[in-house]
Amino acid sequence: MLLLLILPLFSSSRADFASDHVHNFLNESVAPCDNFYRHVCSMGMGVNDTVAKKSAKYYQDMASRLQSRSANNPIMNDIAEARADLNCTFDDDVYSNLLQERCASDFDCYFDEFLYFFKLFNKTKENVDDSLKYYSTHGNKTSRSIQQSVRATSKMVELLYQNSDFNKTKSFNSSVSTYVLLNDRLFVMEVLNANDTASRVGLEKVHNLTKQIRDIIRNTFQETPWMRRANEFGFTILGQYLEILDELTILTDFDCLDRNLTTLRRINHDMTERYFENSPRRTGCTWFDVVHAFNTTDMQLDAKYTSYEDQVNYFRVATTFSYNAFNFVEASIIAILGPTFYPLVENSTETTQIAFAGDIIGHEMYHSFITEALPNRSEEYRNEADCLTQHYNQSCQLFAEGECNSGPKTLSEDGPDVEGLRAAFELLKKEYTDEQLKEFDYPDLKITREQNFFYSAAMRSCADIANGVYREHSPDNIRVNALYSQMPEFTRAFGCKPDDLLYSEEDRVCYLFGKKSTGKNANSTINELKKTKGPAALDSIDNL
Ligand SMILES: *[C@@H]1O[C@H](CO)[C@@H](O)[C@H](O)[C@H]1NC(C)=O
Ligand SMILES: *[C@@H]1O[C@H](CO)[C@@H](O)[C@H](O)[C@H]1NC(C)=O
Ligand SMILES: *[C@@H]1O[C@H](CO)[C@@H](O)[C@H](O)[C@H]1NC(C)=O
Ligand SMILES: *[C@@H]1O[C@H](CO)[C@@H](O)[C@H](O)[C@H]1NC(C)=O
Ligand SMILES: *[C@@H]1O[C@H](CO)[C@@H](O)[C@H](O)[C@H]1NC(C)=O
Ligand SMILES: *[C@@H]1O[C@H](CO)[C@@H](O)[C@H](O)[C@H]1NC(C)=O
Ligand SMILES: *[C@@H]1O[C@H](CO)[C@@H](O)[C@H](O)[C@H]1NC(C)=O
Ligand SMILES: *[C@@H]1O[C@H](CO)[C@@H](O)[C@H](O)[C@H]1NC(C)=O
Ligand SMILES: *[C@@H]1O[C@H](CO)[C@@H](O)[C@H](O)[C@H]1NC(C)=O
Ligand SMILES: *[C@@H]1O[C@H](CO)[C@@H](O)[C@H](O)[C@H]1NC(C)=O
Ligand SMILES: *[C@@H]1O[C@H](CO)[C@@H](O)[C@H](O)[C@H]1NC(C)=O
Ligand SMILES: *[C@@H]1O[C@H](CO)[C@@H](O)[C@H](O)[C@H]1NC(C)=O
Ligand SMILES: [Zn+2]
Repeated sequence: MLLLLILPLFSSSRADFASDHVHNFLNESVAPCDNFYRHVCSMGMGVNDTVAKKSAKYYQDMASRLQSRSANNPIMNDIAEARADLNCTFDDDVYSNLLQERCASDFDCYFDEFLYFFKLFNKTKENVDDSLKYYSTHGNKTSRSIQQSVRATSKMVELLYQNSDFNKTKSFNSSVSTYVLLNDRLFVMEVLNANDTASRVGLEKVHNLTKQIRDIIRNTFQETPWMRRANEFGFTILGQYLEILDELTILTDFDCLDRNLTTLRRINHDMTERYFENSPRRTGCTWFDVVHAFNTTDMQLDAKYTSYEDQVNYFRVATTFSYNAFNFVEASIIAILGPTFYPLVENSTETTQIAFAGDIIGHEMYHSFITEALPNRSEEYRNEADCLTQHYNQSCQLFAEGECNSGPKTLSEDGPDVEGLRAAFELLKKEYTDEQLKEFDYPDLKITREQNFFYSAAMRSCADIANGVYREHSPDNIRVNALYSQMPEFTRAFGCKPDDLLYSEEDRVCYLFGKKSTGKNANSTINELKKTKGPAALDSIDNL
């Protein structure tokens, strides 16, 4: 195993996760200017030592301290029983007997059972059999045969069992997760409400950062030359974007809406009520009954929660410990989730807070602006966006450690990464003078404040890349290396040289917004690298 790991964690008394990371997990044999990701995220570090996992664990541990909840909660008991029962398979006789015990000679009870499973069955297929559709609308009026109804229902249930065979553990976990996370969250809120200095400070800090980042983005838009140009109808993009920016609602985990627990308890009440309405249907295997009681509950609540606010809250209770934040663009609502608070409540440096939370807030805000329609409204933007997609695509050629499809497909995330981190760095520059940026945050390692900014923002991306699933996001190592080679501030902070892989300078990087967004820097730095490192590494760069 790693030699580093058996050294005493001499810095852990600071309770600063960024300090722990730079003291324990940097790989000094990888030059920061050549591959910052692998410099920060040692290949051999355990996945549980990554900041992302530690953030989630902070709250999971808080929730799991409350063992008593399962004992007192019949739904949690069902879930535990179901989890132990995942090997159970369908038996037609067992099911028919259970159904007959419950419905006796009441046809409507059997028909109700048919309709319940028909809705679920209907969801699993594009085209369900016509006879089932017909029976679902006429079975109640015509034959009223109990035997027929049991037979049709039993066959559907059997097919549903087969459908859920592909990975029972996974589909079981995804079905119960909303309920489990909501209850974790209720308990975490109860703990925090009793004992909450750190989280209140963290909350206030996030609110302050939100205001500051919003001001910086407003200023960036105002400085963007092409935004001021009116279209044929007399509208400017600037006017539209400033309004969207001002309208953005920021919800924060553990905010007042959480704290009085009204919203959480209402969602919990809705889920509990429907779960019990759905759960009498026993098929002989608890895992199946629980999954479908929750899946039906979920369909019912999706139909009930029609307002944006309800939808966002229902969504965020199920994501609390796994994500940093999300932007529900249609509703102009951003939710900043618990893990973002971790460094803030754990006494990290001001620099880390700006890098970590400021960056996330900036990233989420930019999601509202980096849209598919924008390239059609500005040629300058289109050129800069092309520049960025080309840069990310070329970064795959240099840094891929597995599948890497960065380029046009990932622009909607790469763009917010780049502009979000720039906004956070602007904030750092506002808070500190040039001299202060060169002061040491970690004197023993000679890591300056501005270097700490880049360390703190990057360490969040340490992950098991080989097993990651990346769709609209670039792989984590690309998210760091491609991003940092778009930041001349990084080059200056680390003294990178022109032939270093991550070297960049102002007039060779891409700016989606701001006064340098002229559409004229259409070639990114990596074109330069193509010359210095030879064409071999970058063979198929034109393959966008
Ligand atoms: C954070 O700092 C405060 C004030 O110094 C201290 O009371 C608290 O215990 C620290 N929290 C942690 C988790 O170390
Ligand atoms: C550090 O990087 C070097 C060079 O890539 C590599 O051989 C070594 O395994 C890395 N060490 C750790 C702990 O990841
Ligand atoms: C990481 O943490 C999880 C959950 O806490 C645990 O099940 C797993 O064994 C840990 N893995 C390692 C390598 O320590
Ligand atoms: C489920 O079945 C598999 C293979 O038949 C067996 O290895 C495993 O121990 C069983 N699990 C439980 C929880 O019974
Ligand atoms: C069955 O599915 C179709 C399309 O997927 C949908 O339009 C219809 O409303 C569904 N019927 C029921 C009873 O859920
Ligand atoms: C089936 O018919 C009975 C009697 O006409 C009625 O009370 C019941 O509501 C009907 N159920 C459905 C699901 O249509
Ligand atoms: C239940 O819902 C979950 C989450 O939407 C889905 O992944 C799963 O496939 C569904 N399970 C079944 C058996 O339909
Ligand atoms: C099933 O899903 C679980 C949980 O996501 C995962 O750990 C496991 O590897 C999956 N198994 C298969 C056979 O895909
Ligand atoms: C409050 O925090 C202290 C110190 O971290 C801890 O010992 C105590 O158990 C906490 N109280 C509750 C109700 O969680
Ligand atoms: C938030 O900003 C206000 C006003 O600028 C300031 O008084 C307060 O100390 C700040 N709070 C934190 C936690 O930084
Ligand atoms: C809790 O907060 C919600 C939303 O802010 C508010 O509507 C409600 O009145 C509050 N409830 C209590 C008991 O303070
Ligand atoms: C970009 O690079 C290509 C090839 O090196 C060159 O032909 C083109 O003029 C450059 N464009 C700009 C805007 O510098
Ligand atoms: Zn995003």
